[in-house]
Amino acid sequence: MSSVLRSAVTGVGGYLPADIVTNDELSKVVDTNDAWIVERTGIHARHRAAPDEAASDLAVAAARKALAAAGRTPAEIDLIIVATTTPDLTFPATAAIVQRKLGAPIGIAFDVQAVCSGFVYALSVADGFVARGMSRCALVIGAETMTRLMDWTDRGTCVLFGDGAGAVVLEPVEGKGDATDRGLLGFALRCDGTKQDLLYVDGGPSTTGTVGHLRMHGREVFRHAVVNISEAVRAAAIDAGVELSAIDWFIPHQANQRILAGVAHRLGIEHERVISTVANHANTSAASIPLAWAQAIDDGRIKPGQLLLVEAMGGGLTWGACVIRF
Ligand code: ACO
Repeated sequence: MSSVLRSAVTGVGGYLPADIVTNDELSKVVDTNDAWIVERTGIHARHRAAPDEAASDLAVAAARKALAAAGRTPAEIDLIIVATTTPDLTFPATAAIVQRKLGAPIGIAFDVQAVCSGFVYALSVADGFVARGMSRCALVIGAETMTRLMDWTDRGTCVLFGDGAGAVVLEPVEGKGDATDRGLLGFALRCDGTKQDLLYVDGGPSTTGTVGHLRMHGREVFRHAVVNISEAVRAAAIDAGVELSAIDWFIPHQANQRILAGVAHRLGIEHERVISTVANHANTSAASIPLAWAQAIDDGRIKPGQLLLVEAMGGGLTWGACVIRF
């Protein structure tokens, strides 16, 4: 019988900075209140990186936990992909900084920029290395300091985001080529650049020369999110050869409880199968999926062998989904 190489997730880890910012604390900064934020978003609190904590520091902390879970050491890592919108520096890539801080050997390291969809995009890119036998032990990390991109006078955005990192270790395993295999089974990735004005940062090295602040038309983004994500999820399930009814756990990008619930409802996924951390993490962009995944492993919900569905949508607009047998 012929066999195929699959990229198996052998370890997952998350890291949240110590400082927790409640809605009540934000109400002292902008004209908002706990009731509005909870009702519209489901968010109660978010974590904020310390002034001397960079995205790479969050990434390294999450990576160490993922490596420990996989029983691997930094010396074994040959590929690091960091999905981030908030890199330490314009260059080098945050992944190169992570490699140095972990003490990993010379290998491949680069960043992926697809905003909130970055982790799903990065998984797909890593699959191209691991399932081709070009990487024996890969780290895929979502790491964000989104609070650094906020305009703290804009109540429509600054209440929505938080900081954190999540990481997975990918290793090649032999599979049969069907949906019983362990690993990344199916993908759908999308970008519609014509919707750029709905969600963007108004600065950059080749335009303003500044970092800029996040700008968003929340209502339109919300509408696109629910419709677009559902289509991509169905496409990823077809690519994987699974029915959505077979999914054990749905781990959506944690942007807004109403988006998570809306997408799950559209897909016929009961809320008991949805992992939601948005209440305490807020939107950590590319970090949100691996952070939620790590939490649901730690609390005993997600177990090896189960079928997982992850999806995200963010600036670009980008969006995508991936089906994984853990
Ligand atoms: N506190 C109190 N009032 C507020 C706040 C706030 N923090 N923010 C906005 N308001 C006010 C507005 O000023 C407006 O007041 P007005 O009617 O007097 O003009 C009113 O609340 C309604 O504003 P809307 O923006 O229409 O409110 P909406 O119900 O659409 O909720 C929200 C806004 C939460 C941003 C929602 O649109 C949303 O979640 N969109 C998705 C955006 C998102 O999650 N983006 C993340 C990146 S993309 C992704 O990850 C999917």
